[in-house]
Amino acid sequence: MARITAGIATSHVPAIGAAFDQGRDRDEYWKPVFDAYDWVKQFEEDEDPDVVILCYNDHASAMMLDVVPTFALGMAEEFEPADEGWGKRQVPLVMGDPVLAAHLAEQLVIDNFDLTLMNEMDVDHGLTVPLSLMFGKQDEWPVRVIPLAVNVTQFPTPSAERCWQLGEAIGDAVRAYPAGLNVQIWGTGGMSHQLQGERAGLINPEFDNAFLDKLVDRPSDLRALTRLELLREAGTEGIELIMWLIMRAALGEKVEELHRFYHVPASNTAVGHMVLRPA
Ligand code: DHB
Ligand code: FE
Repeated sequence: MARITAGIATSHVPAIGAAFDQGRDRDEYWKPVFDAYDWVKQFEEDEDPDVVILCYNDHASAMMLDVVPTFALGMAEEFEPADEGWGKRQVPLVMGDPVLAAHLAEQLVIDNFDLTLMNEMDVDHGLTVPLSLMFGKQDEWPVRVIPLAVNVTQFPTPSAERCWQLGEAIGDAVRAYPAGLNVQIWGTGGMSHQLQGERAGLINPEFDNAFLDKLVDRPSDLRALTRLELLREAGTEGIELIMWLIMRAALGEKVEELHRFYHVPASNTAVGHMVLRPA
């Protein structure tokens, strides 16, 4: 059967992608951020996962106001990097896993999650920047990726609790898949940041560090967070942290923390990164 062998959380700041693409990763400003991902690069080389279920959010790149799916699962054979206004990132095409994606779609809809199925979708920095951080420069990504795009940009966004339930159902669905795949699940976005309005520039290290602690062994506190609490404490874009809960829930009740990093700021954002193993 397929196994979920690790869960990885990371911020997905676009300026990290730009620094990476322009070879500025050794600059004084960026070096501490990129150095912190050396650990996970080695981890990924050792673990050699087959597939990543990558929970992220689209930032009005593939989906604008015309269609706003709450949970959109990527079913395609391949996904192109999105043009976010300055051309597509020069990173490899993202190869999907349509067979596992079809299994997930079937199991999750049977489990009462009314997914949107995306047979075509470009993927933006929310997905490609984490791939660059985990795998570095590559001619081809060494894993297949099933994108799961969550609406965090247009109210009403799904609740933390609903994301938790979806993660649990994803974990069950993967463990019921007959092929012996090594599957990872990632949650990207966050941590605290606000890009707009009166509180633009907000960063809340106290909240973020408590979130990291609770993600490991008190996730019930996090699934109870309301939208308002997330907005107030983590800022308008800090609500991206709900994607981390999908990842965490898929790992089961107990996890071992393998790696953690927290850094303020990168662009406008508190960068958080955590690697967890189901215990
Ligand atoms: C920034 C962070 C994000 O998560 C994002 O999607 C866009 C911008 C930033 O810090 O600039
Ligand atoms: Fe974002």
